[in-house]
Amino acid sequence: MRLKRLFLFAVPASALLLLYVFIVPHDANTPESVSRGQDGAQFLEVSIGREPILPLPPAPQLAPEKVALGKRLFHDPRLSHDNRISCASCHDLSKGGTDRSRFSTGINGAVGDVNAPTVFNAGLNVAQFWDGRAKSLEEQAAGPVHNPAEMGSSWDEVVSKLRKDEEYQASFRRVYPDGISPANIAEAIATFERSLTTPNARFDRYLRGEKNVLSRDELEGYRRFVDHGCTSCHQGAGIGGNMFQRFGIMGDFFKDRSPTRADQGRFNVTGLEEDRHVFKVPTLRNVAVTSPYFHDGSARTLTDAVRVMGKYQLGKGLSEQDVRLIVAFLHTLSGEWQGEVLK
Ligand code: HEC
Ligand code: HEC
Repeated sequence: MRLKRLFLFAVPASALLLLYVFIVPHDANTPESVSRGQDGAQFLEVSIGREPILPLPPAPQLAPEKVALGKRLFHDPRLSHDNRISCASCHDLSKGGTDRSRFSTGINGAVGDVNAPTVFNAGLNVAQFWDGRAKSLEEQAAGPVHNPAEMGSSWDEVVSKLRKDEEYQASFRRVYPDGISPANIAEAIATFERSLTTPNARFDRYLRGEKNVLSRDELEGYRRFVDHGCTSCHQGAGIGGNMFQRFGIMGDFFKDRSPTRADQGRFNVTGLEEDRHVFKVPTLRNVAVTSPYFHDGSARTLTDAVRVMGKYQLGKGLSEQDVRLIVAFLHTLSGEWQGEVLK
């Protein structure tokens, strides 16, 4: 009698248990959940934990009149000695804020010795230039004006040219009581540059919770970017730009070349042996549109650059699959400027 009762209870109970294990979905308890990628395919979304990359902060509040004045100065060739080169000649905003050449050409056809970095999001950098020799965007602006291989001019020359322009006189006076001066020119340009942020990269949208905005490959590329340790240097809101590191910590990148002065990096600023070949870690925002790569422009494509990073910064030969997926991820870092994704 007792046995029969137990049996009557046990059968439906185990049926219920089976039903629970095999049929009821368990999303809530598993670390991986199924979601739908951009291509419509189902894929496993791996939870990465605390993100080493932060979304771009909101654009800073800037005085619109200063931004407009800085924009005009940035595009004005009168900042160069021969009135032919503007900041935009080497930092073309329709070319990702660069000139897409290995080395830039300044006045009289002079060719520089380092690759022009992008001006987009430069306001996030700890310091400016590959070797960090300028502490701020204001301080940076004096560099190209005086560089004989870039604009080959001087503040005196620029100020006297701009003072002849009544429109400049009036616009300066509206925002700076003391009118046209080197400090005000630099400040206006720097203010314009701070407006050059590129929000809404697909990766930022992903970080903000749009989990379906990345394809399976792009997400897997991000996972490998983190797992291989790229984020030990390319991290934060700029995905770079917030620290200095040696180029070649796991191998001598300069071994088979004759290093130039520019290859010495931050050593040129501090004179310290430990700073030889140390450079500011560049931002990877919009990196898909700023080829060629590295301070010496030696990597023509992103694929080349990622391979070099694997070898010299991580001490590993990345597999072809690793490189392909990481490059796919890097393409998700292109943001918008004036409402359009940078191309
Ligand atoms: C002839 C080309 C050329 C011109 C003209 C030029 N630049 Fe550059 N710019 C470069 C190069 C090359 C570098 C990198 C130099 C270095 O790191 O030593 C650079 C670096 C910079 C950086 C630092 C970015 C970073 O991530 O470190 C900023 C900002 C910048 N330029 C803004 C300007 C402004 C503003 C002007 C006009 C006043 C200007 N540039 C004119 C070629 C140019
Ligand atoms: C130890 C620090 C460190 C690590 C780790 C690291 N990088 Fe870099 N990365 C740098 C530095 C420094 C540079 C600039 C080198 C130079 O040009 O002098 C750079 C440059 C780059 C560039 C070129 C950007 C440009 O605008 O020229 C890319 C792309 C890049 N890294 C991707 C990666 C990837 C992908 C990984 C992981 C496989 C990685 N990095 C790991 C420090 C690092």
